[in-house]
Amino acid sequence: TKVAILISGRGSNMRTLIQAAKDKDYPAEIIGVFSNRADAAGLAYAQSEGIQTAVISHKDFDSRESFCEALDAQLEVWGAELLVHAGYMRIHADSFAQKWLGKMLNIHPSLLPSFKGLHPQQQALDAGVKIAGATVHEVTPELDAGPPVMQAVVPVLDSDDADTLAARILKVEHQIYPLALKQYIEKRPNNDVETADQTSLVWPN
Ligand code: GRF
Repeated sequence: TKVAILISGRGSNMRTLIQAAKDKDYPAEIIGVFSNRADAAGLAYAQSEGIQTAVISHKDFDSRESFCEALDAQLEVWGAELLVHAGYMRIHADSFAQKWLGKMLNIHPSLLPSFKGLHPQQQALDAGVKIAGATVHEVTPELDAGPPVMQAVVPVLDSDDADTLAARILKVEHQIYPLALKQYIEKRPNNDVETADQTSLVWPN
């Protein structure tokens, strides 16, 4: 399965996916890394691993739609079959999200559906919860609201600030994302499809 990874920054989750995909038994091949920011640190790592990269800045476009059309064109050039978001900080245009529906994963550093959106670790601290974690979920047009694929939990300590909690969560992110992608790829084709509507969600076709 040809997988493109979308990043905007550091790319530590991307690294773990690239490493996992080196295993000959891993069902994904990372065919490209896309960033909307030229200064994303993860780009250099991907290149050092021999993976092609592309940068298209959203700032060069008038609308979300036109930027997403350019992104889509790049993904088609690569022949991407599945999109994995790893710290990608842009919201997709509806048309793009509909086209790729059922073929997109994201990781979010909270136990969704709690603490969607920005600064979820600080949200968790503000709420006073005693456990936190990470969620790999399918991407749907509504932000951070797609069905969870895999979750992992960590304790919240009294001494935590957002940075220490984020670091603890990031460790489990790195554990579950490669597993979740593998499981997602291996499970999808076997899904039972009951209705015509659901057929559009089946991947691969
Ligand atoms: C991770 O915490 C991820 O859950 C969130 O953004 C962060 C990206 O980190 N969506 P990295 O770029 O993978 O290091």
